[in-house]
Amino acid sequence: MVKIPEEIIPAILSKNIEDFKVDLNKLLSSKTLNSGWVHVDFMDNILVPNKSINPDDLANMDFGALKKEAHLMVKQPKSWIKRCLELGFARIIIHIEADEDIAGYIELIKRGVAESVLAINPDTDIKALEPYSQIVDRVLVMGVTPGFQGQPFVPETIHKIREIKSKGWPVKISVDGAVKDTNAGEILEAGADSLILGSFLMKGDPDENLAQLLKVLEAF
Ligand code: DX5
Ligand code: ZN
Repeated sequence: MVKIPEEIIPAILSKNIEDFKVDLNKLLSSKTLNSGWVHVDFMDNILVPNKSINPDDLANMDFGALKKEAHLMVKQPKSWIKRCLELGFARIIIHIEADEDIAGYIELIKRGVAESVLAINPDTDIKALEPYSQIVDRVLVMGVTPGFQGQPFVPETIHKIREIKSKGWPVKISVDGAVKDTNAGEILEAGADSLILGSFLMKGDPDENLAQLLKVLEAF
């Protein structure tokens, strides 16, 4: 049996604010996912080939008891980080594939009293994370090349999680992209602390989907 993680986090990836509100309302009216974290995907159409809502679209939006984490799939994260901090995001994820000053971005996030997270794409070697391994709070391993929900899982992700775990860095590990009931056990066994699920939790009824995931994990 695998340990049920403290954080099973629903992801919202929306092109427009109307779609975002539909998903947010699903979570707010859910019985099991109306508190805890919500993962909000932001894209610039440069680092990844897709666009999303902007942080500004979320000003004045009521998230109830949900804590917000921002996944910044953007090439130049500085202004996005600043805006997300102003909007009360408590965890901010930037990509190791972003431009230049990764250490500066981590510092900016920490100064804003948020948790700093470095995401890594399937095609990037974990060597790239090494210089930041002692200053960042968490690493997010992508199980897909980012940009879209509902893609197939890249199997090498499991090896990558194990590799990071074996380094003994003082970081938590999140996994995002194509996480579902059929691979969550293996992902946790490899060393993940937190799971982020988009289409698996958000399609249909989130409460039923979470129950299904927990059932599988309890039997794993
Ligand atoms: C992918 C995003 C993920 C996505 C997860 O680019 O960063 O957070 O919303 O959705 P699924 O779980 O469907 O891959
Ligand atoms: Zn994401």
